[in-house]
Amino acid sequence: MKHLLSTRDLSTDDIVSIMAMADHMAEINSRAVPKVPALRGRTIASVFFEDSTRTRLSFETAATRLSAEVMTFTASSSSVNKGESLRDTIETLSAMGVDAFVVRHKSSGAPQQITQWTDASVVNAGDGWHQHPTQGLLDAYTITRNFNELNSMNGRTVAIVGDIKHSRVARSDIDIFTRLGAKVVLVAPAAFLPSTLDGWGVSTADSLDDVIGVVDVVYMLRIQRERIDAAQMPSLREYSSLFALTPERAARMQSHALLLHPGPINRGVEMIVDPSLVPGSRILQQVTNGISIRMAVLFSLLGGDATATLSNGADA
Ligand code: CP
Repeated sequence: MKHLLSTRDLSTDDIVSIMAMADHMAEINSRAVPKVPALRGRTIASVFFEDSTRTRLSFETAATRLSAEVMTFTASSSSVNKGESLRDTIETLSAMGVDAFVVRHKSSGAPQQITQWTDASVVNAGDGWHQHPTQGLLDAYTITRNFNELNSMNGRTVAIVGDIKHSRVARSDIDIFTRLGAKVVLVAPAAFLPSTLDGWGVSTADSLDDVIGVVDVVYMLRIQRERIDAAQMPSLREYSSLFALTPERAARMQSHALLLHPGPINRGVEMIVDPSLVPGSRILQQVTNGISIRMAVLFSLLGGDATATLSNGADA
């Protein structure tokens, strides 16, 4: 695997192997000094053309814990503001010596395009509505590990609730969850569903009340306002009445059910309950797991012999 642009670049075996490697990374992350020399001498450029808190810091932390050099590019303080093109930006950074680009961009397909302009590996950290593959991996990892499974979501039902249409997270999650054997039900108003779900392998529900008491995972999504014309925005009051997680709805979740959200949360819109008061909430665990998953992805793309660099327990 040279690039990770989409969950579809991964076979189901690849997904299981990355999650298994993330278990090793989680053990490294639990050490007093959570650092190994696995990617010493490698340079990873974190190139974000769109805002991020979790993904950016998670990738940068993952790279640092593997002892890679991290080169940080922020579009808002770069020569992009002087008219420099995406291609010139990538070629310029490549000329400084980059082994992998971690790229977020508002345009679907930008990471794929970047592979044409560099010999380095490219990891998609979220492109438009298209894909957010490491979010899909960390979500599957969080679910499987909470249910004490290594490679399967068989028999589990996941409700993905909210703005599916504009969500790259939903697309990555649905692909991975269904391939691991989960049933996925999309809970959204028509305006927040894609025009067709042919080939998605999912069912739909019109209201969160219809499913909240029977699913194993409640996966809440933010309304992606930055990707929606103002004229097409539904009434938030109406939306919240049917689709927000309220304390009453949270109380109806099964005792073993998990609450997930990729973040950022819009409190008072999709999340009216305080998630810290929901016993099944694993929202912060998703963030923690994200570092282990991204270490596994970076190591899979750039690493050498896992037995030499990970299993000996040597700190950097
Ligand atoms: N989940 C996620 O992509 O969050 P950020 O936008 O903060 O990176």
